[in-house]
Formats: sequence, C-alpha cells, structure tokens
Amino acid sequence: MLQCDTLIRSATVYDGSGGPPSLLDVALREGSICDIGSSLPHAASHIFDAHGLALAPGFIDVHTHDDTVVIRRPQMLPKLSQGVTTVITGNCGISAAPVRLREGVPDPMNLLGRADDFRYPTFAAYVAAIRATVPSVNVAALVGHTALRNNHMDRLDRTATEAEIGAMRAELREALDAGALGLSSGLAYASAAAASTDEVVALAEPLARAGALYVTHMRSESEAILDAMSEAFDIGRQSRVPIVISHLKCAGIANRGRSGEVLDALEQARGHQLAGCDCYPYAAGSSTLDLRQVDPRVAITITWSTPHPEQAGQSLASIAEAWGLSQLEAARRLQPAGAIYYSIAEEDMRRILAHPATMFGSDGLPDDPRPHPRLWGTFPRILGRYSREEKLFSTSDAIRRMTALPAQRFGLTHRGMIRENYAADLVLFDPETIIDTATFADPVRAAEGIEGVWVNGVLSWTPKGATGDRAGRFLPRGTLAWTE
Ligand code: ZN
Ligand code: CU
Repeated sequence: MLQCDTLIRSATVYDGSGGPPSLLDVALREGSICDIGSSLPHAASHIFDAHGLALAPGFIDVHTHDDTVVIRRPQMLPKLSQGVTTVITGNCGISAAPVRLREGVPDPMNLLGRADDFRYPTFAAYVAAIRATVPSVNVAALVGHTALRNNHMDRLDRTATEAEIGAMRAELREALDAGALGLSSGLAYASAAAASTDEVVALAEPLARAGALYVTHMRSESEAILDAMSEAFDIGRQSRVPIVISHLKCAGIANRGRSGEVLDALEQARGHQLAGCDCYPYAAGSSTLDLRQVDPRVAITITWSTPHPEQAGQSLASIAEAWGLSQLEAARRLQPAGAIYYSIAEEDMRRILAHPATMFGSDGLPDDPRPHPRLWGTFPRILGRYSREEKLFSTSDAIRRMTALPAQRFGLTHRGMIRENYAADLVLFDPETIIDTATFADPVRAAEGIEGVWVNGVLSWTPKGATGDRAGRFLPRGTLAWTE
C-alpha cells in the first residue's frame, strides 16, 4: 500500500482547467500532489473526509501590496482565510525590493510600510527574508518601476536620463536573475507620471531577454483610458513582452459606461500580442488620497491620515463640512492620507469581471486601519456573490481564472492546478455557503465557507482559524505559458 502524508477523500475536484468537476480522492506527499483517483487505496498520516465539498487549487492573488506584511505579519490571515495560497507582490510600480531610501518614502510607496520596513537593498535580500520568515502563503514578486526610479534619481518629477535608465536596467536585470517575475509600473502616480514611454520601453528590454512580463497600473483609468491602454500595448509590442493591465476599471463620473469600449480595445490587442488584465469585484477603488480624484460628485472615505488619524473612516464631505472647507482644501490638509473612492459603476465592474481573460487581484492594502473590504473578501465574493448568486460565470471558470490562468501567465511552474506532481496548494470550500463578510462599514472580517487550506501540503487554515503551521515559499519566476 502506498504511503502518503495526507489523503483528502471524496472531494468535488475543480482542477483549475475550467472543466466540470469530478468526485475524487487527492493524495499529498512531501508538499506535492502525488496521486488523484477514485477510492485511492493509500495509507496516510492524515485522512480528511471532504464529504463532497469543493476542492480547488489554492487561489493566486495576482495583485497585492503584501510586500512587507508577508514578513511583518507572516500569518497573512486576510489572504489565508480566503483560500489564497500565493500572493504576487510588487504591483503598481512599488515594491519592497530592491529599495534604498534616501529621504522619506515617496507616495505611493508609503502603502507598503514605513521607512524602516524597507530593508531590502537587493531583490536577493528580499528573497532571503521571505525564506527566513516562512509566511503562511507563497510569495512571488515583481519589481516596481517607481522603486527603481527612487533608487537612481534625485527627483521623480522628470523622465530619467540615459545614465539613470542604464542603472535601473542593470538593477532590474539583477532582480530578474534572482527570480523576480517582471516589472510593474504605476504611471498614474506623480512619482512616475513624468516617465516617458521610452523610459519604460528601455526597461522592458531586459524583460524580453529573461522571459518576464510587464504589469501596469496605467497612466490613466479615467477619460484618457484608451490612450493609456494603447501606451501599455505599445510597450508590450515594442519590447515583445506579455503585458497585464492592473485593476482594469473605468474610474470617474465622466468615464461611466465605457467598459465595453475598454474591453474591445483589449480584445483587439489580444489578436496580435499577449495581453491580459486583472480586476477586483467592487465598485470602489482605494489608494493614497489623490487630489485629482477629489470630485464632490464622488463619495470618498478617508482610510488613514498622518496628520489627522482621528478622521479614519469619515467621509471627506463630512470632514470638509466640519472644517468649513471645500473638499479639495480638506483633502490637502489630510495628506498624506489614504482613501476609498466610490467612483466605479457596478455595471462596468461586472462586465470586466465577467470577461474570460480577466484574472482576479485583491489590490488589498494590508496596513490600512480601515481597509477597503477587498483585502479580506475578494475571492469568496467572486465565488459566492458573482458566480453562485448572480451567475455572472460558472464556478469552474472562476476557479480557472484564480488558479491555472495566473500561474501560466506569471510563470508559476507546477502551481495552479490539481495535477500529479503539482504543488499541494489546495483550498476546500463549500460552494453553497462561501461568501465574503467584510463590508465597507466593517471591513476586517474573515469570509465564510472556507473549510481547509493547504500550502505546500501543510494544513494551514481550518474553520477554527489558522493552524499556526506555515509553509509558504518564495516562488521564483518559471516559464511563462500564455496559451492565448
Ligand atoms: Zn494600482
Ligand atoms: Cu495596486
């Protein structure tokens, strides 16, 4: 009789391919899936009867800002409790590594932590810190364009010189050699908005050579979104690298209803280059407080403020009224600060979420005292609300876009599917009850319906909470396997 570590019996297995599920046993040994079949005869140290519940590959959160929190709070409860087993860090142009701060933490790098949280002058130092910490989830990381700019430029309100580009490129190459997934940008933020397209194209050159990808928070998500998309596609075409558009959305009142046009542009590009996107399942965005997004027609909640921490959770409108100021003046006084912007139309969000090429990323901000609920709710909300209740897509397809699709696109080899010899990253959940419970009013709440989470074969979460056993690894870039 074969001996394995864990045997999960009678699970409704969604293997990540998008095909229909089947009732199977899954056996795990030494961190990997060693056998799949009906009524497996194996002996196991742990036998787990799934009673027909759904078993899927662990979810991959493709868009996170968990760069330093995976080291500071390695339990990673907001993600583990959702069935997430891998987080991709380094999005929106900001990353924990490689970073050498001179003075202060430029916006929006302050979303990742305080000055003393930036301790990784090289990408290799960050990898070593993750390996030493062993967080409860796997970590794969992009390098942020803004982080590179900040290492090599005396000011961020201009495009980089030839020499600075050369230095950034050498540093990116070194990070790619140490396992980075690729480059991210945050061209909408003041810290990178002055960068020319050519600056980014020059940096994308080492990506092509390494077989890595480019991920972008585009220059605009509002009126100029189509121009911003064509810039992103140009960068991908000129450099011959696959591109992922981060948190694709139509932001701002003037931009409502344009998701059809936006998806058409994406489809058109996909006809001749590798391009994709991710999206979170909420009709509100969140980031640092941006004066350009202050619009009295848009409700804004302040999530934190350095000079006025007591205002966290208040609406900008009520703060402005109490202070006898315009919203813009009040916003200026609150900075640096964080905000939630209720500026997306639900219809647009749904259309993007439903697109079969869309991956899911929480974009959660783990240090916010009152975070956007996407931090704790994204994946169960997609499965419970948008798949089961609203039937926007099938459970199988949602799981594919949370698992196999991101693993292929980001080059996470042997992850994202329930297959023999794949890593034993698994989530057991009840498809009838899975649901997010975090709300804008009460955002720090674990989802319901997650019955078990294994990370590299180790049972890490049960309905009683985290088991305390952590087994996350740093995942170096493997081979990108875009099939479309
Ligand atoms: Zn972003
Ligand atoms: Cu982001």
